[in-house]
Amino acid sequence: MAIYRHHVRNGVPRDVEGTGAPEPDDLRDRRKNLKQTRLPHLVATYRGEVVGYAYAVLFRKRPAYRYTAKHSIYVHHAHLGRGVGRLLLQELIDTCAAAGFRQMIGYIDADNVPSLALHEKFGFARVGLLSGVAYRHGRWADTAMVQRSLGAGVTAPPSLPAPGR
Ligand SMILES: CC(C)(COP(=O)(O)OP(=O)(O)OC[C@H]1O[C@@H](n2cnc3c(N)ncnc32)[C@H](O)[C@@H]1OP(=O)(O)O)[C@@H](O)C(=O)NCCC(=O)NCCS
Repeated sequence: MAIYRHHVRNGVPRDVEGTGAPEPDDLRDRRKNLKQTRLPHLVATYRGEVVGYAYAVLFRKRPAYRYTAKHSIYVHHAHLGRGVGRLLLQELIDTCAAAGFRQMIGYIDADNVPSLALHEKFGFARVGLLSGVAYRHGRWADTAMVQRSLGAGVTAPPSLPAPGR
């Protein structure tokens, strides 16, 4: 929560709920849901302290979208630029691929240079720009949509059982 709060207050990441920060119960529920659906929720630690986290949810709940994941990644502000994001994103990609997901999608604030660069490094293509969809810090902000395929991507039918179920 501390990691997320800091970035929402001071940074440029997309403020998903628009409320500023999640409540402890929200995070507990999210984690419970992720466990039930076997979706990855990764935590990076350094000397026993949580320094970052990354997780994936289903892109959409309808069954047709069950092979597509949507992810988020956050690194503690005191540990930025030390490779934590790289480690988390690689592990998240590997875990999603192993679970059978075929596409990963991220929504990134269009001004968020570090996150855009990180995702580009890991093979995410910029596939869309949602114009003026957020209002924060007194101005309208765009959101970029990034995507990469996993495993066989669209070249083969999905494997069973479906992930995230
Ligand atoms: C985006 C974020 C996760 C990157 O984590 P990080 O641990 O600082 O990144 P790393 O040190 O692993 O760097 C990996 C790559 O990201 C890119 N990157 C990281 N910081 C950068 C910066 N300040 N400027 C430009 N590129 C940057 C680089 O490509 C870098 O590779 P390199 O070290 O070979 O140049 C981190 O900045 C963060 O948590 N930001 C706030 C939350 C957020 O915006 N999350 C994403 C929401 S979609």
